[in-house]
Amino acid sequence: MTNLIKAPEEIAKMRIAGHLAADVLRMIRPYVLPGVSTEELDQRCHDYIVTVQHAIPAPLNYRGFPKSICTSVNHQVCHGIPGNRKLKDGDIVNIDITVIKDGWHGDTSKMFFVGEPSIAARRICRISHECLMLGLDLAKPGTHLGDIGHAIQRHAEANNCSVVREYCGHGIGLQFHEEPQVLHFGTPGIGLVLQPGMAFTIEPMVNAGKRHVKLLSDQWTVVTKDHSLSAQWEHTIAITGGGHEILTQFPGDDI
Ligand code: MF3
Ligand code: CO
Ligand code: CO
Repeated sequence: MTNLIKAPEEIAKMRIAGHLAADVLRMIRPYVLPGVSTEELDQRCHDYIVTVQHAIPAPLNYRGFPKSICTSVNHQVCHGIPGNRKLKDGDIVNIDITVIKDGWHGDTSKMFFVGEPSIAARRICRISHECLMLGLDLAKPGTHLGDIGHAIQRHAEANNCSVVREYCGHGIGLQFHEEPQVLHFGTPGIGLVLQPGMAFTIEPMVNAGKRHVKLLSDQWTVVTKDHSLSAQWEHTIAITGGGHEILTQFPGDDI
């Protein structure tokens, strides 16, 4: 069992870890260019986290994951393993960063455009971002988790997109993945009622086509079954008395 309600001193430590994770995404932005391999991005993030931040990249060796970040390109949904694949003009890539600082985790991901993306690629990135924002709007005391899942699903489906069901947001703290599961689909009024001190991620994976996914033979990379584009954005948040604090965002940053 993990603790569902964190104390203010614990949230303060998660804020530090969260800001570090956000800072890695900020650092890597200029390097996400046509011709770069995803393992070069991994190496840069790894070195930055370890050498500059004096933190730990949580994915490395997590349940056997071989790299320090996840890079998921185009129809890859999540958990892409960095490798020698070079990004090319028009690709979209999710970079997912989780750092551990002083024992506490911060987990965030965003979409990057490589060169000039197609209209369809821009659209799936925008809609999945809107899904995250709609979920965040509801993240306050008294909300049921099902309210959040419903809002996300409704927006995705209203735009003829679909929500991946097999992977979800999660409680986070001293462990990478804690209770509760934060589903990105659901029914209003159902599920856990949010209270101040809860810390969890919201990280909707939204497909341009059907919701079904398959696991590649590397046992990590998740792709859309119909090869449609997929996009994901993730923040770690803490519920406060009046709403929530995004722990993986610097004050003033808009994404
Ligand atoms: N960062 C992912 C998440 O949002 C989990 C990655 S697990 C790994 O929950 F092992 F692939 F790194
Ligand atoms: Co996560
Ligand atoms: Co993540």
